[in-house]
Amino acid sequence: MYEDRIRRSALMNKLMSAEQAALLFKDGMTVGMSGFTRAGDAKALPAALVERARQSPLHLTLLTGASLGNDSDGLMANAGVVARRMPFQADAALRRKINSGEVMFIDQHLSETAEQLRSGDLKAVDIAVIEAVAITPDGGIIPTMSVGNTANFVQQADKVIVEINLSAPLALEGFHDIYVPGNRPHRGAIPLLTPWQRMGWTSIPVHPDRIAAVVITDSPDSPSNALPPDEETDAIARHVIRFLEGEVKAGRMDPSLRPLQAGIGTIANAVLHGLIDSPFRDMTMYSEVLQDSAIELLDSGQLSMASASSITLSAAMHEKFIHNLEKYRERIVLRPQEISNHPEVVRRLGIIALNTALEFDIYGNVNSTHVGGTHMMNGIGGSGDFARNGQLSIFVSKSVAKDGAISSVVPFAAHVDHTEHDVDVLVTEHGLADLRGLAPRERAPLIIENCAHPDYRPQLRTYLEEALQGGGQTPHVLEKALSWHARYKREGSMLVK
Ligand code: COA
Repeated sequence: MYEDRIRRSALMNKLMSAEQAALLFKDGMTVGMSGFTRAGDAKALPAALVERARQSPLHLTLLTGASLGNDSDGLMANAGVVARRMPFQADAALRRKINSGEVMFIDQHLSETAEQLRSGDLKAVDIAVIEAVAITPDGGIIPTMSVGNTANFVQQADKVIVEINLSAPLALEGFHDIYVPGNRPHRGAIPLLTPWQRMGWTSIPVHPDRIAAVVITDSPDSPSNALPPDEETDAIARHVIRFLEGEVKAGRMDPSLRPLQAGIGTIANAVLHGLIDSPFRDMTMYSEVLQDSAIELLDSGQLSMASASSITLSAAMHEKFIHNLEKYRERIVLRPQEISNHPEVVRRLGIIALNTALEFDIYGNVNSTHVGGTHMMNGIGGSGDFARNGQLSIFVSKSVAKDGAISSVVPFAAHVDHTEHDVDVLVTEHGLADLRGLAPRERAPLIIENCAHPDYRPQLRTYLEEALQGGGQTPHVLEKALSWHARYKREGSMLVK
């Protein structure tokens, strides 16, 4: 019945329900699931594991590529199935469990998980659960809308459960380029010299004996929850475009720029969308996620091709995308996340990295993850892989959050994901600060005057004046450095009334 999907006939014997497959799991196991920013996640096993946990204790260490869709992270967290989670999440219910200390969350650079598994720094994966378009005659697993860490999970796991998703078109075959680096210390260079190069297989090789179950599903990925562009994100996009035009004019790059990386979420998507009105042509992307804006740029012709580890789209864009797969197959490559985010490749290609900050400080340290310095939002994701190693590291943010009660420009970032050494350019709707070649004392006035909201500039100037009296390479008034965050907690606003 599923011959086009399960092309190795012996595997028909492994067909079973998700509930039957869930019986393979034991308390304390490490599980690797497919899924990256809501794309290509296993659809049936998460719910089956929640049911299974009602019968007997089941506390798992759950590894994925990045965040899952279908509320799976939240459902599993609420059922107590997830005891330990890495390397990324973006689910409100799981976030609550993390911030209450019930789930141990390891927030990790997305390129690193596979390396740590390979080198034995992490406990090996017991079971891999992988969503697939089909299984090839020789046992290769063809992934769906993301690759993430699935190739690494499959390599390691004792047992592999494949979820064949009938809603994933067979025409997705050929989008993927599965290349897995060898073991250290004898590994060679990754042979990727351009974003469009292919160097691996179109499916994930696995010995068919290790496939323990094949489960059939039929539900699509959860749509992206990025919001449409607004006045502020349009202004941020205009500042970024003007800056890049300056780079071209100065002869540091040509009008095709360098390969672009754009982070997750509303702001990065909106900024990329703004490039539709830019003069740049023949651009390429070497990113980890393609959102709607990437498809719009491919359609407008400004983007010639895009390489990533997942495709996360709105419902309308997804519909359009899957009905035009032939058109996109030649122009999109989906890679394992350790390759899409690999520091070696990011440095070689000279990526322009565009990521979003929750807040940044007057010296250029960026907090992308911790609300108020203590509470996890989503995780660092791949932003650090690109920010540290790209040619240009740009961070964007709206100048205020929560209707102006929070300034995104603060004296001291309450948590630092990207140090001042990893940040070249900061942008808000008010302007852009080009920090290249500037010392901390030169950076601070530029960031305050160009990026901070006008309501907060006087407070920031007062702080800086006082800090400068104490001297230092990076002057601070230590007892006041985090006072803005404390004031917000105490009074509900960072603004001094
Ligand atoms: N303090 C507290 N909350 C803040 C804040 C701050 N300084 N700045 C923003 N927020 C809140 C917003 O109010 C919003 O809250 P809401 O969901 O209750 O409305 C939320 O954070 C998201 O902010 P938004 O302005 O909508 O931005 P976004 O959707 O573009 O997401 C990040 C921004 C930082 C959360 C997101 O980009 C992220 O998780 N980044 C880290 C991972 C990453 O960069 N990956 C990139 C490689 S792909």
